[in-house]
Amino acid sequence: MTTLTTALKAGPEAPAILHRCRELVAPALAEAVGGMHPWMREMADYALGRGAAGGAPAAHSQGKGVRQALAVLGAEAAGGPAEAGVPAAVAVELVHTFSLLHDDIMDGDAMRRGRPALWKAYGTGPAVLAGDALFALAVQTLTTASAPGAAHRLSAALGDLVRGQADDLLFAHRPWTGPEAVSVAEYEAMAEHKTGSLLGCALALGAHLAGAPEETAAVLDRTGRHLGVAFQIVDDLLGIWGDPAVTGKPVHGDLRQGKKTFPVLAALATPSGSALEGLLTARDDTAVVRAAAVVEQAGGRSAALREARRHLTVAHGLLASVQPAPRPAADLRTLLSALSRRTI
Ligand code: IPE
Ligand code: MG
Ligand code: MG
Repeated sequence: MTTLTTALKAGPEAPAILHRCRELVAPALAEAVGGMHPWMREMADYALGRGAAGGAPAAHSQGKGVRQALAVLGAEAAGGPAEAGVPAAVAVELVHTFSLLHDDIMDGDAMRRGRPALWKAYGTGPAVLAGDALFALAVQTLTTASAPGAAHRLSAALGDLVRGQADDLLFAHRPWTGPEAVSVAEYEAMAEHKTGSLLGCALALGAHLAGAPEETAAVLDRTGRHLGVAFQIVDDLLGIWGDPAVTGKPVHGDLRQGKKTFPVLAALATPSGSALEGLLTARDDTAVVRAAAVVEQAGGRSAALREARRHLTVAHGLLASVQPAPRPAADLRTLLSALSRRTI
């Protein structure tokens, strides 16, 4: 239980940390988006939660802003000013937004953050192009930041992100059991690539722009990658047992789509997992509800929680090893823990 003393000693909580970073990055992000083609800008504003479909200004969920915060804190952790991380923050936030636009098309997901996904609101073609426009803008932001090696870091992360997305799509066509089944190790590599690469890049790029040595940036990159695996496993948990009012996504969406998620793979590896295959293949309303129950009974839910915690512990250890400046280190620890519990 939190005592008064520990509450007083504790630094800001995760929402306050995210808020501080968002406020710092917002003007640069708005300036970057402001230079886009007007139609692309309208869609970018929608995707960034700053506009309604049709272009009217509107405040909507902007997402957590985790990546921009990691970039700012990465710069501070390396001993630089928060401002040094802003171009990195803008770049990773734009890449993240772009990847979600394309991801919703790839996944056939009609909803994002509690409202129609961009491709549902504007059409698939325009949404693909808006994603391309955001991608181009992200690269441009970094090139103008003129730090040697920064664009290389971002492009390497993008390559990994695409690799992870490719495996994610391919996994959907693999069988649930037998020699061709997706292993937990394959799942973790996919999650590290599709989610961890950009989180790692955010931290490392922020530190890089603040003048951190390459070895420090490399360790921060690995920190973000472990955080990404933890984050993705928790995402899987929420995809099955989360409250749609909170997640903004339909309940059991991943089970319905036959996604190879961690809890399901872990449950399939147990003796009670044999009852699961038929349910996972049927994918109708009754089958997905029963599949969720069987996954839980087989221990898939608790195994996923344990594995997410394990990756988080590794991330904390890596972070400590670079001996970051104390205040950003405390903020990063708070953020890492909150993210993998998804209390924000
Ligand atoms: C999205 O992965 C990862 C990227 C956009 C690179 P998912 O498809 O698993 O995530 P959600 O559930 O749509 O957010
Ligand atoms: Mg998706
Ligand atoms: Mg996806």
